[in-house]
Amino acid sequence: MNHPAMQGLTLNTPSYVKNARLIAWVADMVALCKPDTVYWCDGSQAEYQRLCQQLVDAGTFKKLNEAKRPNSFLAQSDPTDVARVEDRTYICAAKKEDAGPTNNWMAPADMRSTLQPLFDGCMAGRTMYVVPFSMGPLGSPIAHIGIELSDSPYVAVNMKIMTRMGKPVFDVLGVEGEFVPCVHTVGAPLAAGQKDVKWPCNKTKYIVHYPETREIWSYGSGYGGNALLGKKCFALRIASNMGRDEGWLAEHMLILGVTNPQGKKYHVAAAFPSACGKTNFAMLIPPAGFDGWKVTTIGDDIAWIKPAADGKLYAINPEAGYFGVAPGTNTLTNPNCMASIEHDTIFTNVALTDDGDVWWEGMGEAPAHAIDWQGNDWTPQIAKETGAKAAHPNARFTVAATNNPALDPAWDDPKGVAIDAFMFGGRRSTTVPLVTEARNWVEGVYMAATMGSETTAAATGQAGVVRRDPFAMLPFAGYNMSDYFQHWLNMGEKLTTTGATLPKIYTTNWFRKGDDGKFVWPGYGENMRVLKWMIDRIEGSGKGTEHITGVSPSYEDLNWTGLDFSAEQFKTVTSMDKAAWLKELELHTELFQQLAHHLPKELGETKAAFEKRLAA
Ligand code: OXD
Ligand code: MN
Repeated sequence: MNHPAMQGLTLNTPSYVKNARLIAWVADMVALCKPDTVYWCDGSQAEYQRLCQQLVDAGTFKKLNEAKRPNSFLAQSDPTDVARVEDRTYICAAKKEDAGPTNNWMAPADMRSTLQPLFDGCMAGRTMYVVPFSMGPLGSPIAHIGIELSDSPYVAVNMKIMTRMGKPVFDVLGVEGEFVPCVHTVGAPLAAGQKDVKWPCNKTKYIVHYPETREIWSYGSGYGGNALLGKKCFALRIASNMGRDEGWLAEHMLILGVTNPQGKKYHVAAAFPSACGKTNFAMLIPPAGFDGWKVTTIGDDIAWIKPAADGKLYAINPEAGYFGVAPGTNTLTNPNCMASIEHDTIFTNVALTDDGDVWWEGMGEAPAHAIDWQGNDWTPQIAKETGAKAAHPNARFTVAATNNPALDPAWDDPKGVAIDAFMFGGRRSTTVPLVTEARNWVEGVYMAATMGSETTAAATGQAGVVRRDPFAMLPFAGYNMSDYFQHWLNMGEKLTTTGATLPKIYTTNWFRKGDDGKFVWPGYGENMRVLKWMIDRIEGSGKGTEHITGVSPSYEDLNWTGLDFSAEQFKTVTSMDKAAWLKELELHTELFQQLAHHLPKELGETKAAFEKRLAA
């Protein structure tokens, strides 16, 4: 490989960067990608402001009205680059069976030769940003370092918000520290004199993970999880591999703290599939009837969880910000979120109002006129006539955790918080009750492994089909799903032998519908009623009734103060229908057939036990 120095390019390596492996890798990537210049991000606020201004000058960002939305920007992406691309996402393990049946796979050597010509010269005419970041509090024993090389300044400023990004990372990295190399390009080299577009990307996309060598290569997209490589690529797909090898868990979970009126605090980690309200649950405000209760946010999307010497599982949020879905968010569904994004926020693919602010469907009263996410005029009348959306349904905000009024004081604690309960929640209009406590760890793993969500017509064109999403990790498990189940079982067994009390495992479903097709459970802040029952159970005071898959509360076991919710309605969201469960277990059989390679025998045994209870 040509050394870049020979091509007249300098690496511009700052004197404080001492890690030889890092410097050699950047040199190799510069030689391959051939950027015009290399810029090492220091993570300072001055740098952030400078890059945002550069994005404004380039037309990628619009500065929002300073009086209404201070220090905030709007980006509108290319209409073909609006979401994660699961069908272009690969786990390139050496052996196909190690990627498993739920991941796209290509042999590493084949993928490398596919990517080589695409990356060759891919950054021509652009700057390569060297983005050093820590997933987790700097220096935490649970944290890990990544370095992202990207030709997108949009990525650099988003990474500043989403991670602990900048110069101090190099102090932790030192001379010999380990890091996960992440290379990202929008795949749009510029010829000499060629004018750039406001959202460069390529119609060819590859989001590639090499689990054995812990590398990430991303080509062709500038959007979200495709491009902000600390998030799904590192913190879930690569980290799940690290966790399996090292005895910890990397999960698609929010983490919240809940403090009772006596001041006792509990921590819950909860997995819901994408777009099922994790951010809302993590920022929940207790409703009427819960005076003195407090919910605080540690994380809204990802948890890294490690066993400590005391036998407990400690969790950190590896991220430092929220990349949340904007549509549907409002002052009723999530007031803490709305407060978080009042200032210092990057919005992507929402609508621009005439007074220089943002708007999206479900935010509140529609403006008389706006510019939609694609840059077209939008009015309520146009929406009525054409169905045009002001904001893309996957429009996002990027905001620092420190903007959140409900931020937990321990959110940045390097040792993490001790987890008392795990929750797994799907989106099911029937069958699955509001809340169920697993009788033991294995049953909990079974329920998480078989969880599912109904697709929405918007996403798939077909509403109501149950897509199995084990542990809400279907798009994010970086290795064979059945080996991942085994890892969870092994963790439980190992912790049990240390004499530790394992966290309780709950499954929830906020989405049961009545005969009228409407949601019955009010959700949002009212989910506190379920959370409180779980805490009562942890304390040993909560009552419940045993059924086929575990233990659920009866109507009188929940606190109903301040909510008008009848026993009849409660029945609609908690009933266990025998015929529906017979069918449900058949679907579990289908899932287990798909995941047969290395499927833990405990799952089959648990299913048999459920079938026996059902037949009784
Ligand atoms: C996310 C997702 O963006 O799960 O968090 O898709
Ligand atoms: Mn997510």
